[in-house]
Amino acid sequence: MTVTKSFKAMVVEEKENNQFTRKITEKSLEDLPQGDVLVKVQYSSLNYKDALSAIGNKGVTRNYPHTPGIDAAGVVEESRDPNFKSGDEVIVTSYDLGMNTSGGFGQYIRVPAEWVVPMPDGITARESMIYGTAGFTAALSVYQLMEHFVSPEKGDVLVSGATGGVGGIAVSILSKIGYSVTAINGLTDQSDYLKGIGAKSVISIEDAADKSGKPLLKAKWAGSIDTVGGDILATSIKSTAPGGAVTCCGNAASPELPINVFPFILRGISLIGIDSQNCPMTVRKKMWEKLAHDWRIPQFEKLVSEITIDQLDQRIDMMMQRKHRGRTVVRLIS
Ligand SMILES: NC(=O)c1ccc[n+]([C@@H]2O[C@H](COP(=O)([O-])OP(=O)(O)OC[C@H]3O[C@@H](n4cnc5c(N)ncnc54)[C@H](OP(=O)(O)O)[C@@H]3O)[C@@H](O)[C@H]2O)c1
Repeated sequence: MTVTKSFKAMVVEEKENNQFTRKITEKSLEDLPQGDVLVKVQYSSLNYKDALSAIGNKGVTRNYPHTPGIDAAGVVEESRDPNFKSGDEVIVTSYDLGMNTSGGFGQYIRVPAEWVVPMPDGITARESMIYGTAGFTAALSVYQLMEHFVSPEKGDVLVSGATGGVGGIAVSILSKIGYSVTAINGLTDQSDYLKGIGAKSVISIEDAADKSGKPLLKAKWAGSIDTVGGDILATSIKSTAPGGAVTCCGNAASPELPINVFPFILRGISLIGIDSQNCPMTVRKKMWEKLAHDWRIPQFEKLVSEITIDQLDQRIDMMMQRKHRGRTVVRLIS
């Protein structure tokens, strides 16, 4: 029988007039949803989607009060599923965690066994959260470029949102496995940082977003990993060399895609959608194995800053104000 325990968690509440507040408070295990596996969370991480959930974005989280956190790594405390036992180290990301299921910004989560990935050998809980959903999405994006025959000898790969989580880890993985990467800068000049995590060259947001309205542009990239959408995604598709591929996972800049069909029918460009949330478990485990071994990035500490749950509130504001860089891991254990 479960001993009733209280634990620390961020709780976002909806007030009148569409106002939302967030605070760190005590929750009880009984507040958690039903599920097969109770996990004591050691580390979580901050993703753009978490910030949206924490500010009351109903496209991400329908019902409040709510504990965000789409990522969690920790140790199984109780399991009703034979595949997991007390003491197992595990990763839980995506599915509904942190969206409408109490998430990793609390010291405990309870989830269906189908959401749980055994921690791969060779990686710690903290390292797994330096990757988190951002790293997992970056891995899926790299994997898809490779599946579409974008190899290092074909030319440079462009990465947008490179100062952020998904983009930064994509830059790091690509450079580690031999690609020449051009990174798109953010609002402020982060060229030194971007070169430090593996970019060969850096271009500005202005240079990355063509305003000429031309249907095709000079072919510059063998492939591209886009995390921001809008004009930048459209420009990268129009600037990709014949037979190249572009992945699309985010809309930090815009959900629009102002483009016509010419890059697809005259250059054979592939546009590949990336959905980390519903990724099948076989691919999920394969990506985590790659992140732990072949694609393990050498620059972990350049990308990360570590905070406690009490510092999350301010970090969420920074992310929404575009004052956040790289990855933030949240330490839930003392
Ligand atoms: N499809 C999926 O499965 C999946 C999974 C994970 C993430 N995502 C999405 O991927 C995107 C990035 O996520 P993340 O966690 O990496 O976020 P993040 O860490 O906050 O990074 C966001 C990046 O986008 C840039 N950016 C923000 N607004 C921009 C604008 N208006 N124009 C150009 N660049 C802009 C930021 O540059 P600054 O340096 O200027 O701030 C930063 O480099 C989000 O849209 C997220 O929802 C999707």
